[in-house]
Amino acid sequence: MSTPPAPERIPPGIANALDYERLAAQALPAGHLAYIAGGSGEDLTVSANRAAFGRWAILPRVLRDVRAGHTRLALNGATLPHPFVLAPVAHGLLAHPQAELASARAAQATGACIVPSTLSSRTLEEIAAAAGPARWFQLYLHPDPAHTLDLLARAEAAGYQAIVLTVDASLQLASRSALAAGFVLPRECVAANLARYPQACAPALPEGASRIFQGAMRHAPTWDSLQWLLAHTRLPVWVKGVLHPEDALLLKQAGAAGIVVSNHGGRGLDGSPASLSMLPAVRAAVGADYPVLFDGGVRSGADAFKALALGANAVLLGRLQLYALAVAGALGVAHMLQLLTEELQATMALAGCARLCEITPDSLIPTYPC
Ligand SMILES: Cc1cc2nc3c(=O)[nH]c(=O)nc-3n(C[C@H](O)[C@H](O)[C@H](O)COP(=O)(O)O)c2cc1C
Repeated sequence: MSTPPAPERIPPGIANALDYERLAAQALPAGHLAYIAGGSGEDLTVSANRAAFGRWAILPRVLRDVRAGHTRLALNGATLPHPFVLAPVAHGLLAHPQAELASARAAQATGACIVPSTLSSRTLEEIAAAAGPARWFQLYLHPDPAHTLDLLARAEAAGYQAIVLTVDASLQLASRSALAAGFVLPRECVAANLARYPQACAPALPEGASRIFQGAMRHAPTWDSLQWLLAHTRLPVWVKGVLHPEDALLLKQAGAAGIVVSNHGGRGLDGSPASLSMLPAVRAAVGADYPVLFDGGVRSGADAFKALALGANAVLLGRLQLYALAVAGALGVAHMLQLLTEELQATMALAGCARLCEITPDSLIPTYPC
């Protein structure tokens, strides 16, 4: 593995969470960095995710007493100390030799919820043993339903509290930036959870069949597979990768426990809108009380504040988690979460919000007409 071992110390010069992005550029081999930072195609949606935060300014409020302030929230039946969730990210070994075990330890230390990926470098059982009680399992449906059922049984046995079904990445276009950097997934990067399931060979496509519709998409999840999943687990099922308000409403009606407004960090459909820009319409479609999580481009406490103001209950962190992991392992992820929480608290205090529920659309003002 070409990733150098990360030092177990916080490097000097880190003043905010975003500094981990800057330092990761020095800690990671160029190809790994391009793979993690890039999206699909031309990275249009990666850029859109970040740019969307710039369209909103935060309105300060003065003279409010925030001395009883806190960032606690209720989510999926648990109370969490802050609204930052460690997003599912495949192949943690690319960032750190301890991979998801380091993220899990950071989650435990900071009370964060962690959502390990089906494609994690360590098994869901190993991650559960290192994590705190707030852990959900991200599921990609396996072509063989028996293997999906086995994954579900393992997640339930390992004490995961929810299943997060990802539905927006059945097909991923190559990232131009990762290709240009010559990135190839190292042989050591295996999906540990799937090692016990034999890989079925893809059947040859009949003449005239599409490599996309009849090929790559043949095992993609559908509304029927969601119903099947809901019937085969006792855990709440969240659905990740939703942008369209109509899909959000249909998912609520279908029985999903909640949704994650996300475009897979720009790694799915390149050219899809920034996830932040869809958040208000999704919130309006599902109503005030339905749980909506958000991810895509969050790099600061102020970004999180904007997502919360536009309708999210909590935010997931993808790349920022990997950058902190690459720079300083478990310590780095815990430190990054601590910095983000303080940044959010500072933003709340200056915006006159003592609790998360006081962060509303009125806390923001467009910087130019959207
Ligand atoms: C390297 C990498 C691997 C990812 N792997 C997964 C995955 O296995 N499952 C999943 O649901 N999302 C995956 N995602 C998407 C993240 O969960 C999340 O939606 C996205 O990273 C959020 O955007 P951000 O990186 O700007 O925070 C991955 C993202 C990255 C950057």
